[in-house]
Amino acid sequence: MVDKILTDRFGRSFPYLRLSITDVCNFKCTYCLPDGYKGEADGFLGVDEIRRLIAGFAELGTRKVRLTGGEPTLRKDFLDIARVVSQTPGIETVAMTTNGYKLPERAQSFFDAGVNAINVSIDGLTPERFELITGKNRFEEVMDGLKLCQEIGFSPVKVNAVLLKDLNHSELDAFIQWAAEGVNLRFIELMETGENGAYFEKHHLSGDVLVKKLQATGWVEAPRDALGGPARVWKHPNHIGSVGLIAPYSKDFCTTCNRLRVSAKGGLHLCLFGDGGHDLRPLLQKDSDKEALKETICELLDLKVAGHGLHEHNTGATPHFASIGG
Ligand code: 5AD
Ligand code: SF4
Repeated sequence: MVDKILTDRFGRSFPYLRLSITDVCNFKCTYCLPDGYKGEADGFLGVDEIRRLIAGFAELGTRKVRLTGGEPTLRKDFLDIARVVSQTPGIETVAMTTNGYKLPERAQSFFDAGVNAINVSIDGLTPERFELITGKNRFEEVMDGLKLCQEIGFSPVKVNAVLLKDLNHSELDAFIQWAAEGVNLRFIELMETGENGAYFEKHHLSGDVLVKKLQATGWVEAPRDALGGPARVWKHPNHIGSVGLIAPYSKDFCTTCNRLRVSAKGGLHLCLFGDGGHDLRPLLQKDSDKEALKETICELLDLKVAGHGLHEHNTGATPHFASIGG
């Protein structure tokens, strides 16, 4: 039952909602939370609030929800949340992004709770490099979890890797080889946030380096599909995997934006690098507020601007990705 498809002033529509369900994370990725998570670990939206939120968005045309964080699986009620979201009429895809913590033990339960698609973050291809970047000696566990997800039948299973000069730059060929063997990789250009300015200067690596390598080795850029969002994707005639690139600094990146974000405390963020978020929580307390919630979301969308200000180092109100959902 869709009564209005969310669109903004620039003709973009938003079938995809990224919902952070916690800011808390147990990893210390050097580009995100180098000193670990320091904030309060409570006050996040409860299962009923999430149910009302997703019901409202679904009636406005949202078809895919990604559960993210922080590390979403640290929520004790993660499976309840996944169930509630996957049972919402209109939601066709429930995806999640995880750092892979305890994935071998838990992947099947995520699938059984209705999660169809999973992204696992793997920024280095040896235990040493993985630990250098994430602060955790859990490479084998995450790789085992990834393999299991492929067997269980999540579709798709993707690996996210942030491109990092001096940290995983030298592994690019190995990463591409891994994709050739059947992995769906997504490289993400490092983005500047409120807290990682100096790190960004040191480690930002342009996606052009990757694009040149792919072009030189027979990978062919696939046409963008209408709902695909801002990633560019390459395939190879002789291989089954894929290599994607999310390059937020490239020209026209924002014109393909198809997503909205809601923070773990119910703030609607119109852009990852936008303002502090618009509080939807007061409208999530009663089932009978659904129409008011939908109207508010539509009104807020009129405020969505054409593009981010990253080129001007305007990182908006995002101190790090754990605070709004990567
Ligand atoms: N720039 C690019 N990607 C980031 N992520 C977290 N912080 C950043 C950043 N500053 C990525 C994580 C993970 C996803 C959730 O977001 O590596 O793959
Ligand atoms: Fe945690 Fe993800 Fe941030 Fe790494 S990038 S510290 S896994 S929230």
